[in-house]
Amino acid sequence: MTETANHRPSRSIVVTGGSGFIGTNFIRWVFDQHSEVGIVNLDALTYAGNPANLREFEGDARYRFVKGDLRDVETVEALFEPRRFSDFPPPNAVVHFAAESHVDRSITGPVRFSETNVIGTQNLLESLRKGRFERLVHVSTDEVYGDLDFEAPPFTENHPLQPSSPYSASKAASDLLVLAYVRTYGVDALVTRCSNNFGPYQFPEKLIPLMTLHASQGKKLPVYGEGKNVRDWIYVEDHCAGIWSALERGQAGRVYNFGGGAEWSNLDLVRKIVELTKADPALIEFVRDRPGHDLRYAMDFRRATEELGWEPLASFDEALEKTVRWYLKRFDWWQPILDGEYRNWIETWYGGESGTNS
Ligand code: NAD
Ligand code: TYD
Repeated sequence: MTETANHRPSRSIVVTGGSGFIGTNFIRWVFDQHSEVGIVNLDALTYAGNPANLREFEGDARYRFVKGDLRDVETVEALFEPRRFSDFPPPNAVVHFAAESHVDRSITGPVRFSETNVIGTQNLLESLRKGRFERLVHVSTDEVYGDLDFEAPPFTENHPLQPSSPYSASKAASDLLVLAYVRTYGVDALVTRCSNNFGPYQFPEKLIPLMTLHASQGKKLPVYGEGKNVRDWIYVEDHCAGIWSALERGQAGRVYNFGGGAEWSNLDLVRKIVELTKADPALIEFVRDRPGHDLRYAMDFRRATEELGWEPLASFDEALEKTVRWYLKRFDWWQPILDGEYRNWIETWYGGESGTNS
């Protein structure tokens, strides 16, 4: 467990979207591994941002929270005003997680994705261009590459960008803006692209927490299409370590792929969750496929290993078991989510069709 501390940090960074899944894990990881670093978390607290994730750090001398929307340029600029935070070193770098991140939501409501993911990123780039901070790490996704056939080699950083969903298209657009600002204005920024993350604090609209909670409650397990789509899964702590290595050692204008080297079809993964939760396999139900559903993702992360000295360390099976156990135990974390806005989402996505049995 990450410990809280009361010493003034010697340096600080801004994390955007720190109250979401990966941001929360990253903040915890940094406080654990680099306890001299302070963090300013800028988060709009959309449906995906949960203040409960970081509540124990509210009085921590290394932590500051700003509720604000990246789409608002003044909010972004104000973050970097001198003496904005008392008794805190001014942040000199930004690790940028904040985004609309769910592919299915991008299908039902795409405009918000461009606003947050593209304009929000550009607002940060403008502050960087004006010299308000020194370095930007833009956290992106393998989904910008489109998808692969079952036999194709994994994506390298040179793979063409062929996004399939409004989500991945907005992420690709933001990646390209970051790289263009480096080229045109000479700013210090880089892009990381990662495969599917899993671990604690993931919003239960995503595959692993959704299936775990449904299985534990005896609800149907809605597998899209035939369940043959493949994802490359990475334990979130490995991703956090990769992002830190990019912040510390990455080159401006460079793209770094991260992956877990653990490819699983959705159906096989759901079967594993059924086993871990001791649920009835008959709960598995094949439902209408996602429009534009990417077939397979897989990452070639040799560049990150060679240039950043990074590789994924977690064993997939052990990390999955740990993750499933976390959700089974943390009823206090997920019950308020299931009781809140999430119910509207399920209603919108399934439109009353069967598939969730809820
Ligand atoms: P998430 O949806 O769990 O969290 C997103 C966070 O951003 C939330 O706290 C939300 O409140 C905040 N946010 C949204 N819009 C905002 C705005 N306009 N201003 C300020 N804050 C805002 O997402 P996640 O899964 O933690 O993903 C984080 C980043 O990592 C995203 O950029 C995503 O594209 C990328 N990524 C995710 C995965 C994955 O498997 N989850 C894989 C690769 C890359
Ligand atoms: P998801 O967790 O939404 O991540 P992404 O779309 O970014 O890869 O979905 C992972 C895979 O699981 C994807 O192929 C869609 C599939 N899926 C289901 O089969 N059923 C579900 O209820 C969900 C949410 C996803």
